[in-house]
Amino acid sequence: MKSYLMESPDEELRLELKTDPDAVRSQAEWCGVGEGLKILDAGCGPGIVTRILHTMVGPSGSVLGVDYSEKRIAYAKKKYENPPGIQFVKHDLRDSLPYKDHFDLVWARFVLEYNRNELVQIVSNLSATLKQGGALCLLDLDNNCMNHFPLPEKIRAVLPEILNLLETKYNFDQFVGRKLYTILYDLGYGDVSVEMRPHHLIYGQLMDRDFFNWIKKVEMITSREKQLFAGYPEGVKGFFRDFENFFRDPRRFTYTPLIMCKGTKP
Ligand SMILES: C[S@@+](CC[C@H](N)C(=O)[O-])C[C@H]1O[C@@H](n2cnc3c(N)ncnc32)[C@H](O)[C@@H]1O
Repeated sequence: MKSYLMESPDEELRLELKTDPDAVRSQAEWCGVGEGLKILDAGCGPGIVTRILHTMVGPSGSVLGVDYSEKRIAYAKKKYENPPGIQFVKHDLRDSLPYKDHFDLVWARFVLEYNRNELVQIVSNLSATLKQGGALCLLDLDNNCMNHFPLPEKIRAVLPEILNLLETKYNFDQFVGRKLYTILYDLGYGDVSVEMRPHHLIYGQLMDRDFFNWIKKVEMITSREKQLFAGYPEGVKGFFRDFENFFRDPRRFTYTPLIMCKGTKP
């Protein structure tokens, strides 16, 4: 099994810190999450988003969070599995799920981007768990990590190489957002609609949680692929310093578009 690109001892903390509950609620409202629904949260991470969905479905609904990380599921069970109607199960979404025609709504946020080669397979697996007339909601990023200004030339030169390696070696899809509509279209989904919102909209004074999130990304690539920075002035150390200087500068502008796509199962 290929391992998850962002795996680290701090991953539960990173995911919790970067979650904006108001943004999640608003995205879930757009997707049609509401009272009484039976929901699958695919790639649920540490469970904070699952918990938000659970508050939205109320006592008459339920949410099942699945994730292939033992550590994330253990964390989610301990922290969020208390009230009835919320459960967590370890499962790799690349394998079919043991629920057929079962859920009213399937929610997959920020998980497809880590499964470039199995994208269509995973969406088909998710689709099979939905009742006829149920909603499949795919939420992911596009042109991920690439939109910054004014990026120092040294960083700009190495960035495409980094993203290319993430794609070929780590199965990461920086362009998954633009693929979501066509996947639902090809599966014959009805009423497919798309909404685009800003994510990582960063300008002015840097917030601690944004710094932590992005430094974890830089740590991930610099610790795993030191050779990428062999030609960079002062190597990994120089890249870290330049990135931090760029990112802390309140003049910097960084954004990533979030694409949300929902359709009805035929
Ligand atoms: C960036 S986190 C997103 C967590 C949450 N959905 C959110 O919106 O914050 C991605 C999660 O997907 C999980 N994941 C990635 N590929 C998976 C797969 N094939 N099957 C199950 N979980 C997967 C990872 O373990 C990780 O917890």
